[in-house]
Amino acid sequence: MSSTDLVGVRFVELADAAAIAYIVNHYIAESTANFRTEPQTAAEWEQDIAQYAGRYPWLVAEYEGEAVGVAYAKPWNARQAYDWTAEATVYVADGQRGRRVGSTLYRDLLKRLEAQGFRSVMAQVTSPNPGSEALHAAFGFELVGTIKDAGYKHGEWRDVGIWQKTLTDLAGPPAPTASTASCSVRGGCEHLTG
Ligand SMILES: CC(C)(COP(=O)(O)OP(=O)(O)OC[C@H]1O[C@@H](n2cnc3c(N)ncnc32)[C@H](O)[C@@H]1OP(=O)(O)O)[C@@H](O)C(=O)NCCC(=O)NCCS
Repeated sequence: MSSTDLVGVRFVELADAAAIAYIVNHYIAESTANFRTEPQTAAEWEQDIAQYAGRYPWLVAEYEGEAVGVAYAKPWNARQAYDWTAEATVYVADGQRGRRVGSTLYRDLLKRLEAQGFRSVMAQVTSPNPGSEALHAAFGFELVGTIKDAGYKHGEWRDVGIWQKTLTDLAGPPAPTASTASCSVRGGCEHLTG
C-alpha cells in the first residue's frame, strides 16, 4: 500500500473481531502501547463490540477488503456524569503504520464523537510513543497530565500521558449523546440535523 492509496473506513461488524484481535495482539506482544501482557481472543472483542459500538463509534479501515486499522471509543468512566467524556483508541496493522491510516480513522472518529454530542475525548498514551503522540498532537489533543510509573512492561516502569481534546464548549445542561446509528457517514446526526 502506498501513502496515496485510498483506505475505506466503515462501521465495525462482529465479524471483524478476529482481525481486530490480530492487529491489537501484535502491539500487546511487541510494544508498550497497550498495557496488556496476554493476547485477547476474538470472543472478547465481540463482547466489546456488542457492548459499546451502539453508543460509541467503532470504525475499521479497509484496504483491498482487509482490515488495516481500527479506531473506537468507550466510556472514560462508567459513572453517569462522565457520559459526555469518551476515551479513544486507535491501532494500525503492523506493516501499515505511517501511511495515514491512523489519521484517516481518527478524523472520522472525532467527527462522529463531536456530532453525537460528546464534549471531551481522552486518550492514554504510554510515554514515549512518538507515533501516537504525534497523531494526538496533530488532532488538537493536549497533554493534561502524566501518570508516573503507571505500569511495568518489557522490563521497565512506564509513564502514561493523559491527553484531552475538547470537542465542544457548549455551556449549560447537555442533551444525551446520540447513538452511533443515528449519525450518517458524513457525521451528521438525526437529532442535530433533523
Ligand atoms: C499511532 C498510530 C495509530 C498512528 O497511525 P499511523 O497510520 O501510523 O499515522 P499517520 O500516518 O496517520 O500519521 C499521523 C501523524 O503522526 C505522525 N507520525 C506517525 N508515525 C510517527 C512516528 N513514528 N514518529 C513521529 N511521527 C509520526 C505523522 O507524521 C503524522 O503527522 P502529520 O499529520 O503532522 O503529518 C500507529 O502508528 C499505530 O497503530 N501505532 C501502534 C499502536 C499505538 O501506539 N496505538 C495508539 C495507542 S494510544
